Amino acid sequence: MLKEELRFIPFLSHQRIASTVEGLAKKITEDYADTVPVVIGVLKGAALFTADLVRRLPMELELDFIQVERYGKYPEPQPTITIVHDVTFPLKDRDVLIVEDIVDRGITIKALKEHIERKGARSVKVCTLLLREGSPAKGSIEYAGIGVDKGFVVGYGMDYREKFRNLDALYIMEEG
Ligand code: IMP
Ligand code: MG
Repeated sequence: MLKEELRFIPFLSHQRIASTVEGLAKKITEDYADTVPVVIGVLKGAALFTADLVRRLPMELELDFIQVERYGKYPEPQPTITIVHDVTFPLKDRDVLIVEDIVDRGITIKALKEHIERKGARSVKVCTLLLREGSPAKGSIEYAGIGVDKGFVVGYGMDYREKFRNLDALYIMEEG
C-alpha cells in the first residue's frame, strides 16, 4: 500500500489534542493528590500521549511502559493479547494509571487491567485519549478524552501498519 493511495481527513489538530490533554491532566491531578501513582503508557500507540500527559502532571509519579500485541490484525482482532514488554518494577499496593491511545472494543484494556491487578496494585484506573462511540468498555474508563465515531485513526502515536505515528495531529485514514 503506497502512501499516495491513502487519504487523510483531519480529525483533531495538535491544539485540540493539547487542550484535551490539559483537561485530562487537571482531573487526574485532583484525583491523585494524596498518592504517588505509577503511570503506565501502553506502547507503542500511547507513547506520545503519555509523554505529553505526564508533563502536565505536577505531582510525584513513577513512569513505566508496557507493550502489548494483539493476535490478528485490526479490524479482525482476536480476543487475546500478548505482553511483549512488561512493566519493570513491582506494583504491589500501588495506584496505577494505565494510559491508552484508543479504547475500541475494550479487549486490550480489559486484559491489561487484569494483568496489572494480578500484580497486586491497590487501584487501577484508565486514561484514554480516544474512546470509540458505543464502546462496551465505556463504564470502566475513568478518564476519556474525545469520542470517535467511525473510521481508522492515525497520527500522534497511532499507526497504520507501523506508519504515521510521527504525525503531529490526528487523522481519519481512508484507502483509495
Ligand atoms: P480494543 O482492544 O478493541 O479496545 O482496541 C484497542 C487497540 O486497538 C488500541 O490499543 C489500538 O492499538 C488499536 N486500535 C483500535 N482502533 C484503532 C484506530 O482507529 N487506529 C489505530 N489503532 C486502533
Ligand atoms: Mg494502543
